Amino acid sequence: MAEDNTQVLLYSFDEKMRKILKFALQSGYGFDVHCPEDEKSALSLFREKKDQFNLVIYLYHHEDFILDDIIKIFQDESFVIPIGFIADKELLPGLPPEMRGRVFHFIEKTNTIAGLQEVVSKIFVEDVSLSLDTYSPVALDCIEIFDGLSNDLYIKLKEDKFVKLFREGDQLDDQDIEKYQKKGLEFFYIQQKTVKWVLDQVHSQFPLFLQNKKFKFVVRSPESSAQEKFEQKIIRVEDELLITKDFKELIEQKVKRAVSTVKKHPKFTKSFRKLNFDQGKDNYISGHISLLASTTCGLAKSLEWSSDITLEKLVYASLLHDITLFHKPELARIQTVKELEKTWDNWSEEDRKLFLGHPADAGNLVKSSFNLAPPETELIIFQHHERPDASGFPKKLGASRVAPLSALFIVAHDIVDYFINNEGCGLSEYLLRAENLWNVGPFKTVYKGLKKLVDQENKAS
Ligand SMILES: [Fe+2]
Ligand SMILES: [Fe+2]
Repeated sequence: MAEDNTQVLLYSFDEKMRKILKFALQSGYGFDVHCPEDEKSALSLFREKKDQFNLVIYLYHHEDFILDDIIKIFQDESFVIPIGFIADKELLPGLPPEMRGRVFHFIEKTNTIAGLQEVVSKIFVEDVSLSLDTYSPVALDCIEIFDGLSNDLYIKLKEDKFVKLFREGDQLDDQDIEKYQKKGLEFFYIQQKTVKWVLDQVHSQFPLFLQNKKFKFVVRSPESSAQEKFEQKIIRVEDELLITKDFKELIEQKVKRAVSTVKKHPKFTKSFRKLNFDQGKDNYISGHISLLASTTCGLAKSLEWSSDITLEKLVYASLLHDITLFHKPELARIQTVKELEKTWDNWSEEDRKLFLGHPADAGNLVKSSFNLAPPETELIIFQHHERPDASGFPKKLGASRVAPLSALFIVAHDIVDYFINNEGCGLSEYLLRAENLWNVGPFKTVYKGLKKLVDQENKAS
């Protein structure tokens, strides 16, 4: 690397944080990054070679032993090399006031990527950002913290000559990396325009990365399919599902709006005949969930179950019950295990697993991440594919073990499904078809409520 490159001393006790910081500094700005692995070597680098560095990035933790020593070095020698100091907000140590702002720049840990950018632009008066067609190095040991970066990596043949490492769809695994390391390769290369969108995605997934030790940043290019992009919003880490803050907030906004609408007009959609429901693949989910919200709440009103909290539960459940299938609307259309079996060969093993697991996945996600959802919302979601004859899934519960509100939801879901698939049919046709379907346990009560509603509407018209 060029001798006149900006030299950065990066100390992070946490290996994964070290890798992502190294990526941001090395690949994002083309800086030379030096990473001592333990406190002792960090301290000796601070002492002995401090003049060689232009910037220090330092991840603090509460059992830090070197902070006092570092402060001393800085105080004794009126040291002027800026330090980007990353820490949890509540762990920010007390620093001598004269040092705050002079050389120390605080970066809150959850905001590491944006904070780092801010500090770099504050410190370097000249714009240090690289032009978009530049290739920057990516250290081989940083690759493992990403899922989906392999397609964007290059190998440098000679000055200004780079070739793509893999073809589209090829995956780089740990053994490949090891193979290249054994050959003595230190870096792959990455285009600067790629680094930009990778860092944007890293920023939005950063709180999830801090939350889960096994987390990998899911990075997808702007050209990726909608399905691939969806994989960045709800991220599966072994058995746990994590949702990005942006996506969660977007959903919460939609729920809030839907809740206020149904509270004002908790009305069962009078006639589905008028609804020209677009069966197009991409519209299935949004059409399905908004119809479901009005159907569940209208039905609750007719049963006189429409307290605010019940309506909130039903709206949350309507909008979130298939959340882990949002990227696969064709799977969300399947209602029963029988229907899945009929089209069994159309699906991959992964699709079938995703479908059969979605009531539990979505329920668990609501429980762990949507703390504004009222209690019991997740129960409705867990049970939304159960059937009165115990042929449902995942638990084959049968009528006596399904909660009343779940029964309401299941019936409403069936109604919506019926109208989507039987254009031009009305509720009277549905009632005839469903008479024997919902004649047991809590389903019977819901069916009576539905019948009452239809009778009232027929009289009124
Ligand atoms: Fe579902
Ligand atoms: Fe559904």
